[in-house]
Amino acid sequence: MRLTIPNKLLRPRAPSTADTARSGADTPGRAASAAAKGGHFAASLHGAYYRAVRLILAILLASGTLGAQQALTQFGEAKARSLLQSQLPCLGCHEMDGDGGRSAPSLTTVGERRSAGYIAAIIADPQRRLPGVAMPRHEMPGSTRELIARFLSLNARGAEVPAVASPGQAEGARPDGAALYAKWCASCHGETGRGDGPDARYLPVAPAHHADAAAMAARPDDSLYDVIYAGGLPWGRSARMPAFGATLSAGEIRALVARIRGLCACEGPAWSRARPGAAGTERR
Ligand code: HEC
Ligand code: HEC
Repeated sequence: MRLTIPNKLLRPRAPSTADTARSGADTPGRAASAAAKGGHFAASLHGAYYRAVRLILAILLASGTLGAQQALTQFGEAKARSLLQSQLPCLGCHEMDGDGGRSAPSLTTVGERRSAGYIAAIIADPQRRLPGVAMPRHEMPGSTRELIARFLSLNARGAEVPAVASPGQAEGARPDGAALYAKWCASCHGETGRGDGPDARYLPVAPAHHADAAAMAARPDDSLYDVIYAGGLPWGRSARMPAFGATLSAGEIRALVARIRGLCACEGPAWSRARPGAAGTERR
């Protein structure tokens, strides 16, 4: 008997009023803070018995025994915000609180459009959730991914997006560097690699000019490959240059390096170019 009421409170998936839904009181963590503040949630409950149950529940939630998954502390929010602003590539394409690119949907309001489940799924594996979407998968520790998903899902009440069948890639098809560049890179670097894509002006650091022969001739192919593979951050460059290594194949990244070479009409430094017959093992 005692157990049935707390259980009901723990899963208020169908809140009694629209107000509780809007204030986000549909998760235990929020229910706890709403209870503590004596807000709308309280109004829907009556009687000393309920108050006692709520008090016990609030203590359990505050102690982290229950609802640790759902609650996002002020510290958690601050951390998520800071990661998005300076460590992750997300704002290269997405806008949040006025900062960031405009080519992808706003992250300020994503919770109004999408469900928490959808947000978590697209961050975990964009291509799987939405095949063909021009969003690369960013590898990060599970705890970071969960924090970002929960932060973006605050007040989530939006809809699922129906899964669509993957278009699939032709077997053995040669990667088309120009098409890959147009899809994945042009929003920042510009169609012709002049650093003038539509999102360029929202970036804190200007995107590289891939058409600039003098600049690109100083870069070995390997270093272009490495930045494309791992993103800007590991190399002390802007975190808004995304990592594509978890999304594109080695062949596709090589095709993109070749595409950059085409745009600059240049080669890397002589020392970095492979010489025929100079394979390491045969050197004497
Ligand atoms: C290269 C650009 C790019 C980067 C970088 C990027 N995204 Fe996206 N993202 C997109 C695009 C494009 C979509 C639109 C999907 C669609 O067509 O509905 C999207 C969709 C989303 C959505 C769903 C939005 C909605 O309203 O449906 C979320 C949430 C999201 N991205 C989060 C992130 C997070 C978090 C990161 C960083 C880890 C990130 N994205 C990095 C391009 C990007
Ligand atoms: C969200 C914007 C954005 C997207 C999308 C993007 N880049 Fe970048 N890229 C940048 C920024 C910003 C820099 C500059 C980083 C710095 O100098 O600190 C950069 C730098 C680079 C560099 C380093 C160049 C150098 O000077 O050594 C390479 C290579 C590169 N990008 C390739 C690509 C490729 C290829 C794609 C597509 C697969 C791509 N980028 C997509 C923003 C972006």
